Amino acid sequence: MLNLIIFGPPGSGKGTQSAKIVQKYDLLHLSTGELLREEMQKDTPLGREVSKYMDQGLLVPDDIVWRELYEYVTQHLDAPGFIFDGFPRTIVQAKALDHLLQEKESHICLVISVEVKEEELFSRLMGRGEDSGRSDDSAEIARRRLQIYKDQTFPLISYYKAQGKIVSIDGMAPVEEVFSRICNAVDGFLDKQKV
Ligand code: AP5
Repeated sequence: MLNLIIFGPPGSGKGTQSAKIVQKYDLLHLSTGELLREEMQKDTPLGREVSKYMDQGLLVPDDIVWRELYEYVTQHLDAPGFIFDGFPRTIVQAKALDHLLQEKESHICLVISVEVKEEELFSRLMGRGEDSGRSDDSAEIARRRLQIYKDQTFPLISYYKAQGKIVSIDGMAPVEEVFSRICNAVDGFLDKQKV
């Protein structure tokens, strides 16, 4: 299985690039943000619980996110691979994912870290907020999401560096250019596997 993580702060282009990556490499796109937003839209008790966190730009507790992810992964084990978008966001989540994949005799192949300057991130989120309908795209909540990324999620870089899995991609370029940089990294990985 080709299992990728696309990693980066809010607005770095994870969702945009994932949509292109799944087409090129025939992977399943697993966005925990999308799964959680679907729960909110269904207005289930779980969706209402989730909205308390997401509307404030806070991380949803690990156990809730994990249940969503576990269900999705185990239902799609016949997939050629996954791109994990927005997951993991904490060390607890990263370890749980490693464990789950090990049980399925698989592993994370590459962590694509998309790097974008903070003011550009903010401007992209404000641009999207004009018509996204997302409750967390306001200026105040976007600032909080960026801060939470720095405090709680960015430290995962060290976790994956220690495993030798990080590739850094300069995300300060048009969408197609960033995509081409990501493809070079993934193709380089795949070529090494053939040797
Ligand atoms: P999630 O849905 O994962 O959102 P996020 O990580 O904050 O990321 P965004 O969707 O805002 O941005 P993106 O990097 O995908 O960029 P995009 O491609 O959209 O999470 C939302 C919330 O869910 C979290 O805050 C948390 O509450 C909860 N949650 C989710 N997963 C969780 C987990 N694992 N644990 C706990 N809680 C969790 O692009 C953004 C904009 O920029 C778009 O308008 C796009 O068109 C534009 N753009 C993209 N690329 C470019 C480019 N190269 N140049 C110019 N514009 C660009």
